[in-house]
Amino acid sequence: MAGCRFVVTSGFLISLDMTCTIIIEGTELKVRNGSSVLYAALDNGFYIPNLCSIRDNPKPFASCRLCFVEIKGQPDPVTACTSRVIDGMEIKLQSPRIARLRKNSFDLLMNNHRLNCQRCDKKKKCDLQKIAKFEHFKLSDTLFRKIDFNLPIDSSHPLFSLDANKCILCGKCIWICQNEGTGQLDFSYRGIKTRISTFGGIPLAEACRDSCTACVAICPVGAFQFKKVSATNA
Ligand code: FES
Repeated sequence: MAGCRFVVTSGFLISLDMTCTIIIEGTELKVRNGSSVLYAALDNGFYIPNLCSIRDNPKPFASCRLCFVEIKGQPDPVTACTSRVIDGMEIKLQSPRIARLRKNSFDLLMNNHRLNCQRCDKKKKCDLQKIAKFEHFKLSDTLFRKIDFNLPIDSSHPLFSLDANKCILCGKCIWICQNEGTGQLDFSYRGIKTRISTFGGIPLAEACRDSCTACVAICPVGAFQFKKVSATNA
């Protein structure tokens, strides 16, 4: 297995190699040097449950805590989205410890997610459903007592609405809004009361006066949803 070659210049460690070799579940792979373990796996057909990672974001939120993997030589599982590949790395995607951690994380997310899959636009395209199927979890069967704050739905915008009762606080909408939109969204409040909000909590229609809908496209769970266009309006 070829070792990666490095050079130090201006205080930075620069790799001279474009690729390095890692092993995922016994399969040897050439991957792009410095890529995250998550995308190295996904790009090579190995699925790791993930909800909050965005490929273009160099500083992952790591808020969903679903992407745990084990790396040989490390005592505890680590999040794949925040770990970078290095040459010779051996990665396990399944183990009893990983399963326990993922189940706890999933149940914590489901605690705050109001289930109404039958009437949700994300039905069959929802990342929570995908992960539940992959891990053989039941969506309604969580370890923790369900919390429903019964928050108001913001349907003031002509194109989309935000149902905070479904939001799992992955932060994807904030990142896309701040990087590709108009920067209107952010977290507000703290702890269990944390919400996605516009500045000052003003309605979406006032905050988002353009037609940007990037938050809807990136939301993995249907908290942001497009409004239905009725036949009379079409
Ligand atoms: S994808 Fe890694 S913590 Fe969410």
